[in-house]
Amino acid sequence: MSKYSASIQENKQRYLDELFDLLRIPSVSADPAYKADVIRTADEVAKRLTEAGAENVEVCETPGFPVVYADKMFDPSKPTVLVYGHYDVQPADPVELWTSGPFEPVIKETPIHPEGAIFARGACDDKGQMYMHVKAFELMMQHDTLPCNVKFMIEGEEEVGSENLEWYVKRNHEKLANDVILISDTGMLANDIPSITTGLRGLAYMEVEVTGPNRDLHSGLYGGAVANPINILTKMIASLQDEDNRITIPGFYDKVEDLSAEERAEMAKAPFSLDAYKKALDMNDVHGEKGYSTMERNSIRPTLDVNGIWGGYTGEGAKTVIASKANAKISMRLVPGQTPDEISELFEKHFIAIAPKSVKVKVTTHHGGHGYVTHTNDHAYKSASRAYETTFGKKPIPVRSGGSIPIVALFEQELKSKSILMGFGLDSDAIHSPNEHFGIFNYLKGIETIPHFYEFFAEG
Ligand code: BES
Ligand code: MN
Ligand code: MN
Repeated sequence: MSKYSASIQENKQRYLDELFDLLRIPSVSADPAYKADVIRTADEVAKRLTEAGAENVEVCETPGFPVVYADKMFDPSKPTVLVYGHYDVQPADPVELWTSGPFEPVIKETPIHPEGAIFARGACDDKGQMYMHVKAFELMMQHDTLPCNVKFMIEGEEEVGSENLEWYVKRNHEKLANDVILISDTGMLANDIPSITTGLRGLAYMEVEVTGPNRDLHSGLYGGAVANPINILTKMIASLQDEDNRITIPGFYDKVEDLSAEERAEMAKAPFSLDAYKKALDMNDVHGEKGYSTMERNSIRPTLDVNGIWGGYTGEGAKTVIASKANAKISMRLVPGQTPDEISELFEKHFIAIAPKSVKVKVTTHHGGHGYVTHTNDHAYKSASRAYETTFGKKPIPVRSGGSIPIVALFEQELKSKSILMGFGLDSDAIHSPNEHFGIFNYLKGIETIPHFYEFFAEG
């Protein structure tokens, strides 16, 4: 319980209705068909910020989708918090696997969210979490308790690599100057185990194309005598991991920052049930790098995964054919020490080196990003920790996440400030998947916890 609980309960329905309206706009940044909707969402976010009491509200044009800026600068002697979030969402497909429309938000109960969860694309990632900040700001304005200056920077291209946010940040150092960046675009361990994200992985995203013969061939007339690009590509991909599930690209691990035995022991204290994990995903066993736990594999260790693979005949029935080309999209999650440029280069060199002479290989690099780590002994982290303690009645656990928000490392480089990742989603909220949802408990708890961060941060 905190001083805001009563107001939050009173306004609960309005908070939900307003978020529902935002969720009804399909702001899919990856698909040009939704361009007008993405722009409409930016305008809507700007309007909501104005209504909440922000000033200098601007929908800033970029070469891509706009960045929404707003602030409330009331006392230069107070610290400034820069809130970052994104109003764009992932594509909804496969739409047929949704139990209700991805852009028709509804509340449904789940075993993990008995109090109800909001089902819609973007409910958790990141419209719901971004909007918690707008409502938390509104609460502080209404209670006349805003203890810090605030700036908002809400972008519309996070899900496609934040290219134009980078453009925007580089041109607006002064405007964006701050003492800390506050972000809710990650998760926590469980509703009764609050945690703060202290790390993110980086990303290197590659696309490969293997070409054999110059046209598709009859697999009887030519089969056995020419290279089948699909056979070759799959063999090449399989060779990228060894029997210990370690990545075989030479130099791949060279700059990985290893954790000390103490740090690993500390990590192992976080509550985790392997049985529950397997059961939730309906798998008989887990899989990963030898010598590391599941929690370590998905946070402090780098990975290589095929995201998609195509080629040849995949239609009805059987077609006897050797395709001319085979393709795959391959991503590598990086950890501190590894840089996307270096890793992309190592990948490209190696992938070309292992290709047999019978095929041609083309490798292209998509967007990437650096990993990120924060410390738990600075004032910003401690302020966040105290905020969770106030509203959850428990000290949050620091947890490194496996996901990526590439722009966070760029903020550090360009704006020289650290980000605090106060995420309120759960891994089971199905972000990027069909039936994405966000617990009503989590949404309201976020709105309640955020003002306490401001309060403790202002004290420092
Ligand atoms: N909010 C997520 C990242 C995230 C989720 C981090 C949960 C930690 C916990 C973000 O919107 C996202 O999806 N990032 C992408 C990278 C981006 C370059 C497309 C990712 O991690 O795949
Ligand atoms: Mn996100
Ligand atoms: Mn996302």
